Amino acid sequence: MIDLGLMKEMNSGKQMTDVWHLPAIARWEKSCQKHPTQKPLSLLTRIILASTKEGDWVLDPFAGSSTTGIAANLFGRRYLGIEQEVEFLEISKARKMEIENTETAIAYKEKILKTLNNP
Ligand SMILES: C[S@@+](CC[C@H](N)C(=O)[O-])C[C@H]1O[C@@H](n2cnc3c(N)ncnc32)[C@H](O)[C@@H]1O
Repeated sequence: MIDLGLMKEMNSGKQMTDVWHLPAIARWEKSCQKHPTQKPLSLLTRIILASTKEGDWVLDPFAGSSTTGIAANLFGRRYLGIEQEVEFLEISKARKMEIENTETAIAYKEKILKTLNNP
């Protein structure tokens, strides 16, 4: 179920519309190489925060570079991704290892939340 109250809160107290304006992927999001159709972490974070609770599982059967997984793990959700291309699995693994570093994870969360608060 979507948490409409949280979405409103994330949108400066205004009802979230169905057209979202978020910046394109930042340079730091490509630190482990980039998937050709990689999505911005801010986009996936907004979706995950609005539709899941901490500790929930998120399943992504078309993982690519696992942007969904990185957003999920950064914000306390568990993640299972499926991807057919080894090249993209390697990017996913590198991204996961990157956020195992607590300082990196905190820095990434701050950047994402800053983007979501000031898109
Ligand atoms: C649109 S991309 C996902 C991009 C991802 N959201 C990101 O930010 O990196 C879709 C991915 O699904 C994978 N894919 C397509 N068909 C698949 C299948 N049948 N099983 C597993 N992976 C598949 C493709 O290789 C591709 O990497």
